[in-house]
Amino acid sequence: MKAIILHGGQGTRLRPLTHTGPKQLIKIGGKPVSQWGLEALSKVGIKEFGIVLGNNHPEKVVEYYGDGSKFGVSITYIYQGEALGLADAVKKTEDFVGGDNFIVYLGDNVILEGLEELLKFQGSASILLAQVENPQRFGVAQIKDGRIIRLVEKPKEPISDLALVGVYAFTPDIFDAINKIKPSWRGELEITDAIQKLIDEGKSVSYHVIRGWWKDTGTPEDLLDANLKLLDNFLVEDNNGSVENSKIRGRVYISPQAKVVNSDIRGPVYIGKGSVVENSMIGPYTSIGDECKIRDSEVTNSLLLDRSEVSGVQLIDSIIGQSSKISKKVSSFHGSRFIVGENTVLQL
Ligand code: DAU
Repeated sequence: MKAIILHGGQGTRLRPLTHTGPKQLIKIGGKPVSQWGLEALSKVGIKEFGIVLGNNHPEKVVEYYGDGSKFGVSITYIYQGEALGLADAVKKTEDFVGGDNFIVYLGDNVILEGLEELLKFQGSASILLAQVENPQRFGVAQIKDGRIIRLVEKPKEPISDLALVGVYAFTPDIFDAINKIKPSWRGELEITDAIQKLIDEGKSVSYHVIRGWWKDTGTPEDLLDANLKLLDNFLVEDNNGSVENSKIRGRVYISPQAKVVNSDIRGPVYIGKGSVVENSMIGPYTSIGDECKIRDSEVTNSLLLDRSEVSGVQLIDSIIGQSSKISKKVSSFHGSRFIVGENTVLQL
């Protein structure tokens, strides 16, 4: 069985973080968002993956995942280019899929339950649904007598509060359906319309409503929320680095060659390889990437990406892009909130 993980799209709502790389590679708890999905699929037995690449730094995706062997799977890359819609991306995988049933997983989604349900493959397509407060942001399903009767992408007038979660199980029937749909009002070939086409043609589409947490990490708030949930659910307590004169409370993961000196760490906190934390208070709910430097600072509920540096600041609910630096000479008692892209220097 093969699975497709989508890495295309523009990531406009996550700018400036996506000016220098695709949103699916933003690391939470030491792993890119899409790796959480790849590993969940690998755990339920899928070992053959197709990764769809877009125009936003596709080389970074290939560089990170390689041929998949590091992750115990095989990966084939399929180039979509311009983001012409989810159905366009799926259509481009037809040769790779080769006539079998397959899974499509949106690389910016974190889905912690329901994959086993999809693998039962009932009907021409199977989808997962979840109750949401803002259905206009999603594809939405209307259910009657236990059957899906209508699917609408980003409805202006909500037809229900059941959103399509970003993972789908398809039979090759989906390719015929995609060939019959037209671009939507936003100019994209919508996978939601292709599934609606299956329904219109009398094919059966099964669904399962998940009750737990899932996230489309489309905005900075979503990323921080995903950080919180992933650290809460999956962080393993371990210390592979060095800790001097510091207090470590709760679940904290310290990677090899990381150093914590004169600091107070309140889990859940992830500290990446080779990072240095000195005279600081970190946590809770904070992921620090690889090779970061944190000095004389307080960092709470935040995401510091690889090689970022902060000094003399109090950060709350912040995301600091790769290789960015924030420093302040005189420390302040007020917390600040930043969403900072890659390679930025802020001297406060
Ligand atoms: O998150 C669930 C929602 O995902 C569903 O409820 C919607 O029905 C579905 O259309 C989708 O909506 P979004 O507006 O969130 O889709 P987005 O444009 O963010 O794209 C989802 C993923 O697919 C993301 O990882 C980028 C990738 N993508 C997107 C497009 C448009 C591609 O690889 N190629 C594309 O052409």
